[in-house]
Amino acid sequence: MKITVVGAGAVGASVADDIARKELASELVILDIKEGLAEGKAQDMMQTATLLGFDTRISGSTNDYSKTAGSSVVVITSGIPRKPGMTREELIGTNAGIVKGVCENILKFSPDAIIIVISNPMDTMTYLALQSTGLPKNRIIGMGGILDSARFKYQLSQHLGCSPADLNAVVVGGHGDTTMIPLIRLATWNSAPVTNFLSAEQQAQIVNDTMVGGATLTKLLGTSAWYAPGAAGAALVEAIVRDEKKLFTCCVALDGEYGQKDICLGVPVIIGRNGWEKVVDFGLDATEQATFNKSADAVRSMNEVLKTL
Ligand code: 2OP
Repeated sequence: MKITVVGAGAVGASVADDIARKELASELVILDIKEGLAEGKAQDMMQTATLLGFDTRISGSTNDYSKTAGSSVVVITSGIPRKPGMTREELIGTNAGIVKGVCENILKFSPDAIIIVISNPMDTMTYLALQSTGLPKNRIIGMGGILDSARFKYQLSQHLGCSPADLNAVVVGGHGDTTMIPLIRLATWNSAPVTNFLSAEQQAQIVNDTMVGGATLTKLLGTSAWYAPGAAGAALVEAIVRDEKKLFTCCVALDGEYGQKDICLGVPVIIGRNGWEKVVDFGLDATEQATFNKSADAVRSMNEVLKTL
């Protein structure tokens, strides 16, 4: 099994590091346009192999896509990250060209790859990857909902004083500060609804803090976060390569599911060796569906910008 991570910045390196530690591939290639960066990060990670006890061979490449040939899964993290005060949406002009070029180059050497998109604005970049490659829709997956759901569980655990591992909670909709929808009505603490234990004010606070989770970290760090995005990307890769049939919220092409068409948006899906295998209907109530439709409208108008580039 060979996996490629495109982009050796903080998020790309973090995904690659987690993939290696989990031994999800025998061969892992990191590629970046910046001379020597991917080679350096790959060598640094390889020097942890005997210390951490993994057996994945990691190599780096400066923009030579032939080195990525035959990859089963490719994770795209390329593009500029946001700076404090910026929305993910402001990155579209720069990142669209980068993501489109990466997809073309990847498919020349790995025509059967499943593509995972992490670059922002993720919903629009996933849609762009789908449109520009023409690949079957199950092979293009945006990662955002896994990350946002992990952040939601973190926020819930802080208020409940419980282990995040005991929580089940998902975020659907877009991966934007105003487009994501933490489904608190459906969140449970080992099967008990979390709403039994939280006041209305606490619930509102948790939902809000989840939605601005990425922005909060960007403000603290001066750039966007990497540990949780990296771990979320690697969890998605793991579900594919181990054919886990995991239920994750991912950004996928909708064709009528959740009332939307011609858009990539976060919904619960089953992930296995074929990529995303089916959408699971969580039965949104009328308010949640209306919020989901608003999120879709916002993402759709972002997708329109692609036509002007
Ligand atoms: C985040 O939310 C990188 O979009 C990513 O941190």
